[in-house]
Amino acid sequence: MSEFRKVRKAVLPVAGLGTRFLPATKVVPKEMLPVVDKPIIQYVVDEAIAAGIEHFVFVTGRNKHVIEDYFDIQYELEATLKARNKKAELSLLTDMLPKAGTSTFTRQQEPHGLGHAVWCAREIIGPEPFALILPDMVMAADVPCLKGMMDVYDVSGGNVISVEECDPSQTHKYGIVGVGESVGSGFKITEMVEKPEPGTAPSNYFINGRYILQPEIFPILANLERGAGNEIQLTDGMLKLAKEQAFYGYAFDGQTYDCGSKEGFIIANVALALKRPDIRPKVENELKALIAALK
Ligand code: G1P
Repeated sequence: MSEFRKVRKAVLPVAGLGTRFLPATKVVPKEMLPVVDKPIIQYVVDEAIAAGIEHFVFVTGRNKHVIEDYFDIQYELEATLKARNKKAELSLLTDMLPKAGTSTFTRQQEPHGLGHAVWCAREIIGPEPFALILPDMVMAADVPCLKGMMDVYDVSGGNVISVEECDPSQTHKYGIVGVGESVGSGFKITEMVEKPEPGTAPSNYFINGRYILQPEIFPILANLERGAGNEIQLTDGMLKLAKEQAFYGYAFDGQTYDCGSKEGFIIANVALALKRPDIRPKVENELKALIAALK
């Protein structure tokens, strides 16, 4: 048993407009776009469940009600599948349902940035540590990312951020951390900067969308000035909290697919299809043929 307070709740910010995927996201939230045969949101919920998360807080926006419906019973469909004795399909629907009362939906009414989206969850999280998962980042690993972070947290307490290395030319796209001394399987974070100007990044370790945060972040976010992109930036809030509390880095060992970009989304589909024994043979052959035809 860890001496630190258990992380029970996860915040999933899903209010983004998905403009990079228009017109696909005109009526379908980007979190509902499928990677192979599951919507993006299901991957991150599965990852959180594997890490012991018991309650999900979805920070949604207008036109996102499909996400709420997705995590609810679909009587008509289930009745039809039952009548047709489609047991496997039926269990695909029933197995993924969260237990009653374990999901909460709140709205970010205006898009003021990630820091503001997280702040919108403050009343539901209350005075306890929580996980934050950015659904754009779909991950595959032997040890699911958030589970690995929980293992660090159980030893270190404090705040834990997952990071991974990127090409130094890409640091301006992400939150970047400074890497300090090793602590268990993680390390102390010395610095954090959101989307640094090229050539000014403290390292090439970028924040990859998974966080364990202490509730003291909320009053800081409430009073934060706008930062990069004229938005209320979570990274700026964490930097302030780091003056009072420890922040640890967890170097994620696995694959991250940035489904917030078209290329990342397509690669996620291909890579995860290739991990599926039922789909792999056909996809692999067709891909090889397509690539050969390019030359
Ligand atoms: C957000 C965070 C950034 C992080 C990134 C990961 O940026 O602000 O620190 O590196 O997610 O995807 P956004 O992608 O919203 O611009």
